[in-house]
Amino acid sequence: MPDQSPRTRPEPKPGILDITPYKPGKSQAPGVANPVKLSSNENILGFSDKARAAYAAAVERMNLYPDGRADALRQAVAGYFRLEPERLVFGDGTDEVLHMLCQVFLEPGDNIVMGRYGFGAYAIGARACQGEVRMADEPNHRLTADELLKHVDGRTRLVFITQPGNPTGTFMSRSELRALHDGLPPDVVLVIDGAYAEFADDPAFDDGFDMARGAQNVVVTRTFSKIYGLAALRVGWGYCPAHIADAVDRIRPPFNTSIAAQEAAIAALGDEEFKRRSVAHVVRWRPWLEQQLGGLGLEVTPSQANFVLVGFPTAPGRTAAEAEAFLARRGLIVRGVANYGLPGHLRITVGLEEHNRALVEALSDFLGR
Ligand SMILES: Cc1ncc(COP(=O)(O)O)c(C=O)c1O
Repeated sequence: MPDQSPRTRPEPKPGILDITPYKPGKSQAPGVANPVKLSSNENILGFSDKARAAYAAAVERMNLYPDGRADALRQAVAGYFRLEPERLVFGDGTDEVLHMLCQVFLEPGDNIVMGRYGFGAYAIGARACQGEVRMADEPNHRLTADELLKHVDGRTRLVFITQPGNPTGTFMSRSELRALHDGLPPDVVLVIDGAYAEFADDPAFDDGFDMARGAQNVVVTRTFSKIYGLAALRVGWGYCPAHIADAVDRIRPPFNTSIAAQEAAIAALGDEEFKRRSVAHVVRWRPWLEQQLGGLGLEVTPSQANFVLVGFPTAPGRTAAEAEAFLARRGLIVRGVANYGLPGHLRITVGLEEHNRALVEALSDFLGR
C-alpha cells in the first residue's frame, strides 16, 4: 500500500535518496602541507600557456552571456577531429553530457547497462531519471561484448562503456567494440566515453569515431579535463548522430559553457606541443610505474590511461586501505576505489618523475622490502 499520510515537507521523487553521491578524489593529506595529488587523473603537467592567455583575456567579457551553441569552439573541435559540427553537443564537463543523454532517453523503469567497475556518473545520471542500472561483469577488469549484451533487454536504452576504462585503464578491442554494437538493438544508444582516449597507444585501441560516423545509435564523448588539463573549466562534448544532438540540445541549459571556458578550450586545441608533451609523459612513465609496482609483487592491470590500477594483498598491514593511508602520510594522495567495487585496489595517476619515484619508494617501504 502506498503511504497515504500527508507529507509534512517536500520529498524528492522515489529513488533520489537511494543515490550514493559521487565521491571525488581526495585533495588533502592530514598533517602534510603540500601533498602531491595523484587521485583524480588530472594533467600532471598543468595546462597550455595559450589556454591561460585566452582565459585571462576573457575576463574583459565577464558581463556578457556566452554563445550558447559555442559556435567557435564547435568549429574548432569539428576541424581538429574532422567531425560534422552540427553533430556536436557541448556540456559543463562530460558529466553534463552524460546526464543529458540519460534525461533524453530514460523513462522510469528503463535501464542502462555499464561495466561493474564503470564510471560512477553513468549510474547517478540513470538513477536521477528513475532508471535501473545493470552492471556487467568485467573479467580481468575488462569489458566484453558478451557480458554487456547479457544484460540488454527490451527496457535498455543506453549502454555506457569507457574507452579506456576508469578505474581499470583497460579497453575493448576494435573487434569487441564491433561485436557489442552489432549485438545491440538499433534503438539502444551505445555511449563510448573517451575521457582518457588520447593517452592510449595500443594499436588495437579504437576511439569509436569511425563507428559513430556511420551509426544512428553511437555517441562518443570527450573532455578538455584530462589531456588538455582544463578540469576546472568544465568543458566536455559528445559526437552524436544528428537526431540525438538535436534532442540533447533541446534540454541543454542554454548557456552551459562559459566564455572563458570556451576560449581556453579553443586555445588548448591549438597547442599541439603541450598535448604532445602530455601524452609523451604518460607513455614514458606509465610502463615504468607498471613495471616497478609489479616488481614489488603488486598486481598491476595494464593501463592505456594516465593512471594505473594496483591490487594489494588482503593480509592485515598490507591492504589497499592501509597503503592509501601510508602514502598519504608521505604526502602522496592516491585513490581508493572501494566505491567502484574494488576494495583491494588503488588507482594512481601517473605523476611527475619525482612523484613516481617517491611513490615506488614509499610502497616498497610499506611492503617492508
Ligand atoms: C570516465 C570518465 N568520464 C568522464 C569524466 C568527467 O569528465 P569531465 O571533467 O569532462 O566532466 C571523467 C572524470 O574523471 C571520467 O573519468
